[in-house]
Amino acid sequence: MTDLLLLPGDGIGPEVTAQVRRVAQALTPDLKLDERPFGGVSYDAHGVPLTDEALATAKAARAVLMGAVGGPQWAGAPRDKRPEAGLLNLRAGMKVFANLRPALCFGPLAEASSLKRELVEGLDIMIVRELTGGIYFGEPRFIEDLPGGGKRAVDTQVYTTAEIERVARVAFELARGRRNKVHSAEKSNVMDSGLLWREVVTDLHRREYADVQLEHILADNAAMQIVKAPKQFDVLLTDNLFGDILSDAAAQLTGSLGMLPSAALGVAGTPGLYEPIHGSAPDIAGQGVANPLAAILSFEMALRWSLDRAAEADRLFAAVEAALAGGARTRDLGGALTTVQMGDAVLAAL
Ligand code: IPM
Ligand code: MN
Repeated sequence: MTDLLLLPGDGIGPEVTAQVRRVAQALTPDLKLDERPFGGVSYDAHGVPLTDEALATAKAARAVLMGAVGGPQWAGAPRDKRPEAGLLNLRAGMKVFANLRPALCFGPLAEASSLKRELVEGLDIMIVRELTGGIYFGEPRFIEDLPGGGKRAVDTQVYTTAEIERVARVAFELARGRRNKVHSAEKSNVMDSGLLWREVVTDLHRREYADVQLEHILADNAAMQIVKAPKQFDVLLTDNLFGDILSDAAAQLTGSLGMLPSAALGVAGTPGLYEPIHGSAPDIAGQGVANPLAAILSFEMALRWSLDRAAEADRLFAAVEAALAGGARTRDLGGALTTVQMGDAVLAAL
């Protein structure tokens, strides 16, 4: 049985996952690793961004770790065969509905943030993003030609009570182990799906989680508050689209998008999907300068949430902290280390 399936993907994906492989070999040599093509490289080789075989292997593994997908060379591919469609199919196929995106500011990186040190020092936010519903998957969706010229494009935002409740439950549970506070972001002032979101979260809170502090916040205000006073947040619960946007903003607080890992979880006992939240970064792909820490920290989350290796996860987290404290910096963090050298720094600290 595969413990960890690596899906390096496109752009900087293979470069950063190569460092995960090195770390895994040093820290947990007994884990059985496997690898499959994914995204654009799979489309080029097999005509689809995610083969049935790769999805079946992912579902049978204990955890899946991907690098990144997409790039300008696939912009012309049919929409259902684009690299990003492969990622959405993987998330849906694995049924990983709860996406945990921790925005954590490592002490030595407080200077690397574009915000003032006092705003981000000690920052520890957990974004819980719904990952298998909403406008990313809603039907109908199409672009049609209009008789008089021009076109009309439709996307559909759709949520059910059950979809909202199961992800809200994850947010409340996590909050209990943290600072006991959940902000639930939506646009209930303009969207019906936002109204239902607020209603379901309120109801679940009253029934089962009244001990947790709950605040509803409009998603636009959440965006402003994230850059104004980010430390007010503990757990931030969002739908799929708002979570995508708000987590990029939160990432920048931590110094770099190259620092943020994520874990996508389904029901207990099913494999988790671990992804650095940065993309394929075509502008620097192939140069060996990408920051591998988001991928390495995604492996840390996999050890903790899927592989039952909390002690090794703690060691790896401490090693990343030590490497940063020792001054290890890739270019995105204002330094000059290559991807491999950052991997070396983490291995040395281990
Ligand atoms: C992310 C990415 C993906 C998303 C893309 C690559 C489909 O931006 O994981 O945040 O929008 O979910
Ligand atoms: Mn994103």
